[in-house]
Amino acid sequence: MSEETLQALVQRREEQGHNVLVVDLVRADGGPLPAFDAGAHIDLHLGDGLVRPYSLASAPSARDRYRLGILKDPASRGGSVAAHQRLQAGATLRIGLPRNHFPLAEGATHTVLVGGGIGITPMIAMAHALSEAGQSFELHYCGRTEAACAFLDELRGSAFAAQVHTHFDNGSMVQRLDLDAVLGQAAPGTHLYVCGPGGFMDWVIGEAQGLGLPEAQIHKEYFQVASDTSGKAFDVVAQKSGQRVRVEADQSIVEALAGIGIKVQVSCVQGVCGTCLCTVLEGTPDHRDVFLTEDEKADNDQILLCCSRAQSDTLVLDL
Ligand code: FES
Repeated sequence: MSEETLQALVQRREEQGHNVLVVDLVRADGGPLPAFDAGAHIDLHLGDGLVRPYSLASAPSARDRYRLGILKDPASRGGSVAAHQRLQAGATLRIGLPRNHFPLAEGATHTVLVGGGIGITPMIAMAHALSEAGQSFELHYCGRTEAACAFLDELRGSAFAAQVHTHFDNGSMVQRLDLDAVLGQAAPGTHLYVCGPGGFMDWVIGEAQGLGLPEAQIHKEYFQVASDTSGKAFDVVAQKSGQRVRVEADQSIVEALAGIGIKVQVSCVQGVCGTCLCTVLEGTPDHRDVFLTEDEKADNDQILLCCSRAQSDTLVLDL
């Protein structure tokens, strides 16, 4: 896990749709930004120790700026509200280097990108990458209303506008997303990518599974999860230092480890981004995240320390 950061400058900010801040970040020293692959995110260091991940929505081929879309959610834990306040034009901030837990698979015969609300952001980067590579794809953007959706002008003016399909909850039935039509006749080797609110994703994934799309061809990224992270107390042993600590019922492993001086790098603190991933050497995790696949969870050899707990009395971690 890299903690390397660089100084960035807010070159442009624009409020779009309903409560979405679209910002372009450039490197403060004027140099090219680090390369990234579609689906990547960066951490924004928003002050007072607040670090939050946001997906990159710009073309990976553009190294002069990173474009982000940030939905202000007053009900969240403060990251998006701070970002809306802090990211004024001309402001500087530290950002992490791009990391990608949601990459495009190689070898797809066709790609279906589905973004719900602000979940459109990684899909835009993917659409740019697929378009520039001349690959077959379609992009579906679902939102409550047209007025609520950011990035519409950009998508409609893009080189891949013909592959963009919009679906609004308050629109007519004929424009609603019909996954049966989109995926029902999907060619072998079609891959699906979905990002958006949990209920929306569950619907898309459930439909895709019902239509027989293999699990390995369904790719998902949650950007928000309301997880219950409390549970029975257990012990954690940090193998490298040999220290043992009690994780109380209302405490996270990250918090318990901090109490004995072991600092774990975190970002989303919701089991979404994978930053706090750690190897489990002994014991059985109680997985509460949405980052690991079901197969990875069943292996029980990795854990997200910000939200997951233990089924066993003790977990021995590679720390
Ligand atoms: S900090 Fe994001 S998964 Fe733990």
